[in-house]
Amino acid sequence: MARIVVAEAIADAGLSTLQAAGHEIVNLAGKPREALLSALAGADALIVRSQVQVDAALIAAGPQLKIIGRAGVGIDNIDAKAAERANIRVVNAPNGNTIAAAEQTFALLLAVARHVPRGDASVRSGAWIRGELKGFELKGKRLGIIGFGRIGQAVAKRAAAFEMEVVASDPVVTAQQAAAFGVKLQTLDQLLADSDIISLHLPALGDAPLIGAAEIAKMKRGAVLLNVARGSLVDEVALAAALTSGALGGAGIDVFAAEPPVGSPLLTAPHTVLAPHLGAQTVDAQIAVAVEVAEQIVDFFAAPRA
Ligand code: MLT
Repeated sequence: MARIVVAEAIADAGLSTLQAAGHEIVNLAGKPREALLSALAGADALIVRSQVQVDAALIAAGPQLKIIGRAGVGIDNIDAKAAERANIRVVNAPNGNTIAAAEQTFALLLAVARHVPRGDASVRSGAWIRGELKGFELKGKRLGIIGFGRIGQAVAKRAAAFEMEVVASDPVVTAQQAAAFGVKLQTLDQLLADSDIISLHLPALGDAPLIGAAEIAKMKRGAVLLNVARGSLVDEVALAAALTSGALGGAGIDVFAAEPPVGSPLLTAPHTVLAPHLGAQTVDAQIAVAVEVAEQIVDFFAAPRA
């Protein structure tokens, strides 16, 4: 039996999977870092989502840790090198969030295109600013998807239903693979220059933002930027300036460089719809990722070890 510290809320189905295999769960979701640090002293496994930073200090607090599971795509909040040095396996849940992230992309896109938040506020306040809220249709618009993995592909499939033209940029995808989705592969610069709407679906790059002032300058005037991937991909100051000047026509932003984005210029930028990192926040996705990560942890402890 392993002692598994769960540091962030995961679906009950994941907890039941661990319990059914006889493991003990220490559920610390919502508890401060100090509680986590002391509980790790006797823990064999740790499960996180995206808010807890699993840095070298946290890893050092768990001398018996053997596996860290992330209930989400990627492992960017885990210091993978520190984990490797401590001989700790790191696993994630790359599949379960795909549809939720793709659907959130369209939720934000349609909210930007049809001014949904401003319309809602104007009905509630009695202002009824119908004349100010002329939107645009998705049909016939060119959607540029940067990062054509599982989520980018799911976005492309849904864009086809809206009769959008879809292009993508991804250094590890071939033109043939993209064509199977009815998508034309482009260089990043071509995509930036040609797209009416640009949507990011790639992992954090760990260095300078992918979209800064120079990249925004290459985009069509009035283009819309969507980010349901990682906050660090976008220079928020440059994006807010482009929205304010009218260089960009709108933005749908689910993720931020710091979360919550206290003081971010995006909080007051025009034509911007913001969400508090809801890309994976559906009942369905949370069950899927919790079970996906729990099953890997169960298998890990069930496997014979030398
Ligand atoms: C993901 O990486 O899948 C999500 O950002 C995880 C989350 O919502 O916590």
